Amino acid sequence: MTTPILRLTNVSKSFGPVDVLHDISLQVNAGEVLCLLGDNGAGKSTLIKTLSGVHAPTSGTMEMDGQPVAFANPREASDRGIATVHQFGGTFPLMSIGRCFFVGREPVKRWGPLKAYDRRTANEVAVKAIQGFGITRITDGDRLVGGLSGGERQSLAIARAVHFGARVLILDEPTAALGVKQASHVLRIVLEARRRGLAVIFITHQVTHAMAVGDRFAVLIRGSLAASFAKGERTREEITDLMAGGEAMAELEAEIAAHEAGSPQAA
Ligand SMILES: Nc1ncnc2c1ncn2[C@@H]1O[C@H](COP(=O)(O)OP(=O)(O)OP(=O)(O)O)[C@@H](O)[C@H]1O
Ligand SMILES: [Mg+2]
Repeated sequence: MTTPILRLTNVSKSFGPVDVLHDISLQVNAGEVLCLLGDNGAGKSTLIKTLSGVHAPTSGTMEMDGQPVAFANPREASDRGIATVHQFGGTFPLMSIGRCFFVGREPVKRWGPLKAYDRRTANEVAVKAIQGFGITRITDGDRLVGGLSGGERQSLAIARAVHFGARVLILDEPTAALGVKQASHVLRIVLEARRRGLAVIFITHQVTHAMAVGDRFAVLIRGSLAASFAKGERTREEITDLMAGGEAMAELEAEIAAHEAGSPQAA
């Protein structure tokens, strides 16, 4: 048994009287992609915000490498190597690629008491890191992020997270707004991050994307973990069903059965 990088045990989260997450237990291992599935409002974003230090759990425990952790803010989670990439890559359209890559950690050049942002180094390192993920079209670190495609922005954000030592990479719907070709780029980058030994938590509504990269799957329905299984244990139809909130499908089937039996009131 290997110790998981991240383990949650019985994590619940309420906002005042509203219970959003109930008793979630799950883990992610190095070199594995965990797909987090579930319908709108199931609690996926709340769960990743809890993992990344935005919210504190109401109860339950979180461990990294077997040691209990609690994050007071997102900075603490990121210092521990948990990197979260939001839907639009958390990037800044009016910044250059080099600037955006190093935001908050700019390399500096010094002349005696003077110092200045080292544009050349930033651009070189950023372009090299992004190309390392197979995005070879990006050659100029001075280009503005606003001019990149959605897939390229995702790639920039992932390359930055990996460069600064992320061990857990959380991607909230990174392929949602992308066309087929760009989405496949992002999926390839997810696989490259896994190959480099990161634990990846990948949120998506697209079964095809989930099945293409997932090693393990966790399905949230109304804030509870409704199913968790490994690659190959469920068919595409079963996964689609679960994502639609399996219980809705079960209700529908019961209604149809009742209707066919001639007693719709019984449904
Ligand atoms: N700060 C908050 N206060 C009260 N309720 C909240 C808060 N944040 C989220 N919720 C509720 O928790 C539930 C889950 O929301 P969440 O954003 O985690 O869902 P999701 O699975 O990410 O959905 P989607 O697929 O639409 O992104 C929703 O009903 C939402 O209204
Ligand atoms: Mg969400």
